[in-house]
Amino acid sequence: MKIVLTGVKPTGILHIGNYFGAIKPALLLAEEYEARYFIADYHALNVVKNASELRGAIRGIAAGWLAAGLDPEKVIFYRQSSVPETFELATILAAFASKGLLNRAHAYKAAVQRNIERGDDGDAGINMGLFTYPVLMAADILLFGADLVPVGRDQVQHIEMAQDMAKSLNFNYKKDLLKIPEALVRDEVAVVPGLDGRKMSKSYGNTIPMFSSSAALRKLIMRIVTNSQGVDEPKNPDDSQIFTLYKLFAAEPEREALAARYRAGGMGWGEAKEELFRVMDAELAPLRERYDAFMSEPERLDAILRAGAEKARHIASRTVEHLRSAIGIAL
Ligand code: ADP
Ligand code: TRP
Repeated sequence: MKIVLTGVKPTGILHIGNYFGAIKPALLLAEEYEARYFIADYHALNVVKNASELRGAIRGIAAGWLAAGLDPEKVIFYRQSSVPETFELATILAAFASKGLLNRAHAYKAAVQRNIERGDDGDAGINMGLFTYPVLMAADILLFGADLVPVGRDQVQHIEMAQDMAKSLNFNYKKDLLKIPEALVRDEVAVVPGLDGRKMSKSYGNTIPMFSSSAALRKLIMRIVTNSQGVDEPKNPDDSQIFTLYKLFAAEPEREALAARYRAGGMGWGEAKEELFRVMDAELAPLRERYDAFMSEPERLDAILRAGAEKARHIASRTVEHLRSAIGIAL
């Protein structure tokens, strides 16, 4: 069976854009492939330098995926930091990653560009963690022989770099030591709009968290920006982010019925928002309950991640042993 692998960076709390854009599609893939999903906690260290914040984000993401339905018996679910073989492989790969390749990484280039525009030294405030980010990510992937790596479009370059490093290493030893992974870009997944109509993103501060209380959820929905059309005016459902969000949570007949009410007029934005709240709260309530249960029992969460790490290390140690002997480090 083919292997699907992806990592999630524990920065910030999960929102419904992450739910529909990443979590749900990954859980679907896990039904078809052998899945390995992990929390890229050392990748997060580049940005999150506050210990309790990082700890909270790691637990929050882990609890979030489990609450959304990830079955740790079926998916190997672990923390990157619990698999030290990752860091050994990153060291090996560094010897096969040209600096020029890393210079061209979008995230690094953008940071340099921002510095230059500000009149600063190009490398001001840039740490080596950001620069070598693609090497660590390549190690995450190549360690587990992943065939497919589901990612957002912004991550495709990183997968290409992982391919590049794996090919250089294979070429050098004239052996297929590392499997060449492919990116699986979720182009068909719709962009979930945020409260202001732009893409929902934590960097825009326009998110609806997956696990807010019912009351907080209602309050957020009431803040969704609308146009000034009055109650009686017919409305175009396809023009409204309230309806775009509604569609994600409602079944087909419900969607059609509500679209007809938009078009007929007589329904104000307040009522449209109430309808949205109703379907959203109905889908999210059971997830929220499971999430709260995991968060109040961190030992249970940690035990699940430890068990996942054990399975992951079993695979990882084989890859690294094999490589050590192929490259001449094992005597
Ligand atoms: P953010 O933009 O909030 O920082 P991330 O970059 O951490 O989100 O995204 C994590 C995953 O969730 C990625 O796979 C990304 O494609 C997906 N995702 C994030 N926001 C959305 C959205 N508004 N619609 C669809 N998918 C999203
Ligand atoms: N860089 C990815 C992101 O920011 C997270 C990540 C780390 C990852 N290692 C990975 C994704 C390996 C896929 C495979 O979203």
